[in-house]
Amino acid sequence: MIEVLSVTSELFPLIKTGGLADVAGALPGALAPEGVHVRTLVPGYPAVRSALEKPRIVARIDDLMGGPAVLLAAGKVAGSLDLIVIDAPHLYDRPGNPYLAPDGSDWPDNTERFAALSLVAAMIGQGLVAGYRVDVVHGHDWQAGLAPAYLALSGKPRPASVMTVHNIAFQGQAPATMLDALRLPAHSFDVNGVEYYGGIGALKAGLHYADRITTVSPTYAEEILTPDFGMGLDGLLRARRADLVGIVNGIDDAVWNPATDRSLAATYDARTLERRAKNRLAVQKRMGIDADPDAPLFCAVTRLTWQKGMDLLFEALPQLVEMGGQFVLLGAGDPALESGFTAATVHHAGRVGCIMGYDEPLSHLLQGGCDAILIPSRFEPCGLTQLYGLRYGCVPVVARTGGLADTVIDANDAALADGVGTGVQLSPVNVDSLVSAIARTVRLHRDRDTFRALQQRGMSREVSWKRPAHRYAALYADAIRAARKAG
Ligand code: ADP
Ligand code: GLC
Repeated sequence: MIEVLSVTSELFPLIKTGGLADVAGALPGALAPEGVHVRTLVPGYPAVRSALEKPRIVARIDDLMGGPAVLLAAGKVAGSLDLIVIDAPHLYDRPGNPYLAPDGSDWPDNTERFAALSLVAAMIGQGLVAGYRVDVVHGHDWQAGLAPAYLALSGKPRPASVMTVHNIAFQGQAPATMLDALRLPAHSFDVNGVEYYGGIGALKAGLHYADRITTVSPTYAEEILTPDFGMGLDGLLRARRADLVGIVNGIDDAVWNPATDRSLAATYDARTLERRAKNRLAVQKRMGIDADPDAPLFCAVTRLTWQKGMDLLFEALPQLVEMGGQFVLLGAGDPALESGFTAATVHHAGRVGCIMGYDEPLSHLLQGGCDAILIPSRFEPCGLTQLYGLRYGCVPVVARTGGLADTVIDANDAALADGVGTGVQLSPVNVDSLVSAIARTVRLHRDRDTFRALQQRGMSREVSWKRPAHRYAALYADAIRAARKAG
């Protein structure tokens, strides 16, 4: 049995801002049949502490980076996830979004909050919790980036370390003056260490010190080696190319199953697609648009940011409506986009509907009732909403980048003739090709048999965690070998 400590700042179903939570929440269960036992280290946000079943105190840290004493509580949530929670109210006892203060700005002490998470991970990796031997510390994104650094810099025997990049745009940069406060030795402030553009880079440190690096799709693994996508880290990644792999995410097929999903107005499977009509009606009602039974109904479920290309979608809206389509948006983020889309619901009354905010059950209903989901991302490490779309018969219309390119097969004429297309791809990512992709989807939708076959093919695709989990298990074994060699 390989013992993995997964280190994450988000965890479905407790705390989520995006796909990282889904991945961290589903991977442990998928790894169990692979002979890998995962415990997950998470900050003790209120939502985490209140969900912990029968917590046991497993360690006490008297001086965590100069702060008050901190307790570690172990327990299960949702019957299956095995957690270690850092009970440090001065860092984590803040409700709501894990990164943002109520006014929408980053918490000023995010550097310390997640350095603490990383330091505790390293301490547990090196024997802090009695009776718990760790083989691999697996950090997710910049929030866990310093964990491999603390391990490597400790000078003591250590477990293997793996760093997964879910999004290279967030790097966790801190001023050099914080070196001491973060308990990093002076000699680590080096290009071959934690130093990054004159400061301390948490993600950079992780990518430098980890035994193995993964990202969430093979195409993104290639893309981040280039200046266009590497966001300053491409040079380091090119140097570590041999230790970098792309493993495409799966989805939790128990949480995302249209045959049993309680958030739907009607459950269905690939043979009973006509039952989706009820969900469609529920979507139209909820979103305040016409109960049109025939219009191609598009949706987007997304953070409203530059990454997701929602500005392009906003510009394409008039043409989508002109082609007879309807569009509904569930999203939150950029205030300018929020007000733009809200105005569009008035301008295109009956055809465009929006709900600004975060609503997990509604995101399921949209996948279960809409004809297609639009994902014109400028970059997309993996993307999960296209996988949910495939599983729910909500045809993904995606930018040809990152994980979107790896998981959706473009239904061009040749693919249709061979019976292999599962969605529509667009490239380059701009308004014109988005409009063409929408037009192509509208045409496909008009031919009911073709469209139904497209939906059914998507639904039959293997998008579970089974294959990816197998690859992670092999990667852990490889990282353990690498660490032994290095140590
Ligand atoms: P990212 O992590 O970059 O935001 P992903 O596609 O990997 O993109 O994951 C996004 C996750 O967040 C999906 O589970 C998606 O359904 C969910 N999501 C995004 N926006 C919303 C929203 N406004 N309401 C509910 N769920 C959302
Ligand atoms: C990030 C990426 C997204 C990916 C998710 C989970 O948030 O933006 O593409 O699916 O992490 O790996």
